[in-house]
Amino acid sequence: MKIAMIGSGYVGLVSGACFADFGHSVVCVDKAVAKIEALERGEIPIYEPGLDALVAENVKAGRLSFTTELAGAVAAADMVFIAVGTPSRRGDGHADLSYVYAAAREIALAVTGFTVVVTKSTVPVGTGDEVERIIRETNPAADVAVVSNPEFLREGAAIGDFKKPDRIVVGLEDERAREPMVEVYRPLYLNASPIVFTSRRSSELIKYAANAFLAMKITFINEIADLCEEVGADVQAVSRGIGLDNRIGSKFLHAGPGYGGSCFPKDTLALVKTAQDHGSAVRLIETTVAINDQRKRAMARKVIAACGGDARGKVVAVLGLTFKPRTDDMREAPSLSIIQALQDAGAKVVAHDPVGMEAAKPLLDDAVSYAESPYEAAAGADALVLVTEWDQFRALDFARLKAAMRAPVLVDLRNVYSPDEVARHGFTYEGVGRAATAGDVEASILGTAAE
Ligand code: UDX
Repeated sequence: MKIAMIGSGYVGLVSGACFADFGHSVVCVDKAVAKIEALERGEIPIYEPGLDALVAENVKAGRLSFTTELAGAVAAADMVFIAVGTPSRRGDGHADLSYVYAAAREIALAVTGFTVVVTKSTVPVGTGDEVERIIRETNPAADVAVVSNPEFLREGAAIGDFKKPDRIVVGLEDERAREPMVEVYRPLYLNASPIVFTSRRSSELIKYAANAFLAMKITFINEIADLCEEVGADVQAVSRGIGLDNRIGSKFLHAGPGYGGSCFPKDTLALVKTAQDHGSAVRLIETTVAINDQRKRAMARKVIAACGGDARGKVVAVLGLTFKPRTDDMREAPSLSIIQALQDAGAKVVAHDPVGMEAAKPLLDDAVSYAESPYEAAAGADALVLVTEWDQFRALDFARLKAAMRAPVLVDLRNVYSPDEVARHGFTYEGVGRAATAGDVEASILGTAAE
């Protein structure tokens, strides 16, 4: 298959490199000249484990190339994927589709022969219809089938997710697109990854419904965590106890400081807006959005309480800035609101992140200072707050931390540590939803009968 990938951002680059690795011939297109030049020099503009090697290998094999010239790439292609950005529109929370529609117009003018045009970007229900309308209006002679094929890639695990998906979702209205869609995913199909064929609108909704459900699942366990603190239960045990029920499932039941990232906050808002536009409401998701927003400030209050109830003049060391580990992505990272709230309460914040500090600096107040290691961050601190669960923070040297800190206090917003273990080192420990004794937690994780 000859593929043109329009948009060489996160989704476009990962998908393009993976399709090339399947043996297809892929041209990744982007308007940003600097980005394409960097890619041609072998520099990857985003941090994604394994992506640099995958790109290099496929460029070397002649299956993957980069260009700023959309027309040539589209003219030569059997399939054109639209993977441009769909940010939240400022002010109203709607997905901004101007890049998608601009791409549709350019594609319409460049296609030759029968071409499958696939929207990979996350787009609201009905966007496929509009893309098709724009193409037909711009060039009535264009012979296209417009397909919806959402991605379900997690940052930091995107290549694995692409190559071993739980499912592939394909929404089409024109049967001629079915065979090319099977062909382009053939290696996965052979791996027995199910392909769900459905209508274009259902496919578009599947993406939003999936992300909204996951955001709701996280928010559910976060609320249960709050309740655990009130009633003296342990959310780690509750999570395991409910997650072993196959109907519930154990994933995305980890309590923490609230979800962030480029997808969940944007997609939940867009789903709420879509429902409102149709005179309907997804009230569970409206509530999910509100609870998650409030949660970040609640986490700052937790830190302030651990500092003795008053943050004025206190130094707080924050470990982890990115919205999750193994990415440099700071979009909607809980650290941003937590740090702001701590500063508003009068604390001085020193932050450390293994990868995300450069990306974080423009987004954080100038008064935040940065440290090169957890130990440097902890020097003179009144509390250490673990916000993002990087592996580098999973085996901290507590004796060294204690010697460096003004007060040995750990606020573990990801429940990485066992409260007992931390207490043994003379620390005050505050986790999320863990009022129960640490013994309960360990017993439950080992699978022994914990109450
Ligand atoms: C997500 C979806 O998983 C993916 O399918 C979709 O295509 C894009 O959005 P991503 O944003 O990369 O992927 O991150 P993910 O690993 O899903 O985590 C999202 C947020 O939820 C993070 O802030 C994470 O810390 C938080 N989270 C996740 C929890 O707080 N608890 C959990 O149990 C799981």
